Amino acid sequence: MQIELRYFTGTGNSFRIIDTCRTVFEHSGHTVSVSEINSTEKEIGEAGLLGFCFPVYAFGIPRICRKYLASVHRFKNPQKVFVLITAGDSDESGFAATECEKMLRSKNCDVVYTGVIQMPINWTTSPEPPYPPAKDEALEIIKAGVGQAQFVAREILDGVRKHHQFSYPSRYTKWRFYKDYLLFKYMGLQNLWRTFRVYDSCNGCSICAKICPTGSIEMTGRRPAWTSTCEQCMRCVNFCPNESIYQTMGGDTKGKNRYYEPGFNPGIRIRQEV
Ligand SMILES: Cc1cc2nc3c(=O)[nH]c(=O)nc-3n(C[C@H](O)[C@H](O)[C@H](O)COP(=O)(O)O)c2cc1C
Ligand code: SF4
Ligand code: SF4
Repeated sequence: MQIELRYFTGTGNSFRIIDTCRTVFEHSGHTVSVSEINSTEKEIGEAGLLGFCFPVYAFGIPRICRKYLASVHRFKNPQKVFVLITAGDSDESGFAATECEKMLRSKNCDVVYTGVIQMPINWTTSPEPPYPPAKDEALEIIKAGVGQAQFVAREILDGVRKHHQFSYPSRYTKWRFYKDYLLFKYMGLQNLWRTFRVYDSCNGCSICAKICPTGSIEMTGRRPAWTSTCEQCMRCVNFCPNESIYQTMGGDTKGKNRYYEPGFNPGIRIRQEV
């Protein structure tokens, strides 16, 4: 069958997971097409199976993914869909999977499978730990995540139906959970782009501007300037060759690990086999 896969990624985790699914599907003889979400795609051609993979940001999906799902046209015939969410902690995926499921159901989708896959945390400017892990630990987490994705992809092909159930993260009180979710969704995204700064180590190479998936960085002179379309995906922070980027309001990054999925190449946005 024809399988269509869509993803959004900041640092390559969600791409690695959807690409792992692609491999499993192709090995089973299916024809697969993978692409990044794109706001101009209003009509996704009907396929035997459609799959999405997004990261979780503060217990919800990234704003760009929410907008994309909202703008996609309703399917004429019931469309089989699966959704995978990558999370820094599988206990802390919040509403991400259920939010996607609800939106897709309203588009005449038969949501056959939703799941959460733990991958390394990429939120280097988070105001509090946990921060991105060291390289060895990250590789272990990736290995487990890829193994889970292979298992899930086979289950989906076997016709297993599973739905991730929402639960409050054990580390959070309910009050704190809703506070963080609502603050990020309704205040954070509208304002956090203003808090980006660079240390003196920035040499104006403009790599951050070239790799930003939303084109949210402009070079003014030899300094990057962030704009309001920023999704807080952390690609610029983690790929800056001089580790120069930080955020005010608790987003200091000196001495912290940087993280991106080692096979992910944001320049061409297609995973290179490693
Ligand atoms: C702004 C931001 C918020 C995040 N919030 C959460 C969260 O609420 N729960 C969680 O488990 N991981 C959280 N993470 C971690 C990412 O979801 C995780 O590292 C994901 O796999 C990154 O995927 P990507 O590499 O495809 O961008 C957050 C990351 C960022 C940048
Ligand atoms: S990638 Fe880093 S060093 Fe290069 S311009 Fe951006 S912040 Fe400065
Ligand atoms: S500016 Fe940085 S954090 Fe914001 S969307 Fe672009 S790469 Fe991601």
